[in-house]
Amino acid sequence: MQSSRLTLALAVACVFSLNAVAGEVEVLHWWTSGGEAKSVAELKKMMSAKGHTWKDFAVAGGAGDNAMTVLKTRVVSGNPPTAAQVKGPSIQEWGGEGVLATLDAVATAEKWDSILPPVVASTMKYKNHYVAVPVNVHRVNWMWVNPEVFKKAGAKVPTSWAEFDEAATKIEKAGMIAVAHGGQPWQDATVFESVALGIGGADFYKKAFVQLDAAALNSPTTLKTFETLRMVRKHMDKDMPGRDWNLATAMVINGKAGMQFMGDWAKGEFTAAGKTPGKDYLCVAAPGTDKAYTFNIDSFIVFAQKNKDLKATNDFASTVLSPAFQQVFNLNKGSIPVRLGADMSKFDDCAKKSSADFVATNKAGSLLPSFAHGMAMPSAAQGAVQDLISSFMNSNMSSQDAVAKLLVAAKKK
Ligand code: GAL
Repeated sequence: MQSSRLTLALAVACVFSLNAVAGEVEVLHWWTSGGEAKSVAELKKMMSAKGHTWKDFAVAGGAGDNAMTVLKTRVVSGNPPTAAQVKGPSIQEWGGEGVLATLDAVATAEKWDSILPPVVASTMKYKNHYVAVPVNVHRVNWMWVNPEVFKKAGAKVPTSWAEFDEAATKIEKAGMIAVAHGGQPWQDATVFESVALGIGGADFYKKAFVQLDAAALNSPTTLKTFETLRMVRKHMDKDMPGRDWNLATAMVINGKAGMQFMGDWAKGEFTAAGKTPGKDYLCVAAPGTDKAYTFNIDSFIVFAQKNKDLKATNDFASTVLSPAFQQVFNLNKGSIPVRLGADMSKFDDCAKKSSADFVATNKAGSLLPSFAHGMAMPSAAQGAVQDLISSFMNSNMSSQDAVAKLLVAAKKK
């Protein structure tokens, strides 16, 4: 009796002392596929280990289009979460709304300016104050290949778009699907940007899709990009409309399809399915894009809280950049750590290639922000460009019309 009362008293005391330092973190994200869910579970675990309560605010839908709509509603109603998955130029847009908290205290204490690549650090700042914490670096211009499908079809892994056409035709003749794809605007744009990069090269990509230069957008190279996209589109199956990206990845995993054009979150699905790169699947650059790198950096913005207590928010940011989390999260997610000088020894060959290419392309000037993943354009322009690409892929719009419409879409504010 005595001892059980004591145990109870101790338990109550523990709960109270824990509450005194712990808080709740409500985190909006869209990581709901197999590989994504495994990755974010590591963050929940680490936050719980620090005594915080994790309130999951997961909104399904690849690339976060649904999540962004829900986030706006929550913020407008004066009830923002602790943190939300927001990336690239949108961080500035949210900064301008005056609803974010600053992470400067933790950033200074943990020397973020020296542990992050400068281009990443500056994206995380609004008016020189850290308002976001980066999670990883994803490479977008990948092609995921099932070597067994290629073998059965007697096809060769393509390094140009002409070779791609040949290989895809052989795979179809052998009774399989050439390209696994999900017809959603962001997935369509993901394919488009790799085609554009493969056709036009890094300088063209930068001028057209980062600087939104009218002459580059309205050029024969853009026309050729649309024509090539139409060819690629012919190698997708009739069930693609609306399909989720991870279901398309599953088609490559189980040998229904030969290839998928997708960022390396697709590798998270191969990993979750127990597959080995180089053996069960190959990661190669999309045709013609081997010397360039389109990047997509996930990050979380943090919101100012009514009670002004940022202890849990700061702990969250510190955990995200901790070497231990960077390692375990990125091993599952398919991306590479965003911290400079991270230990890559446990990572597979695809990640090692990504890491080496990130450094090499940065030096060569061919490290490029992925516009399909919110890294390059203002959100209004990005939405309009994506919609145009989708309507091109799902109609018989001519390539000439598409170029003219692209010019208008890219100027949308
Ligand atoms: C991207 C995001 C990735 C990945 C993907 C599919 O925009 O950066 O982390 O999860 O969407 O949901």
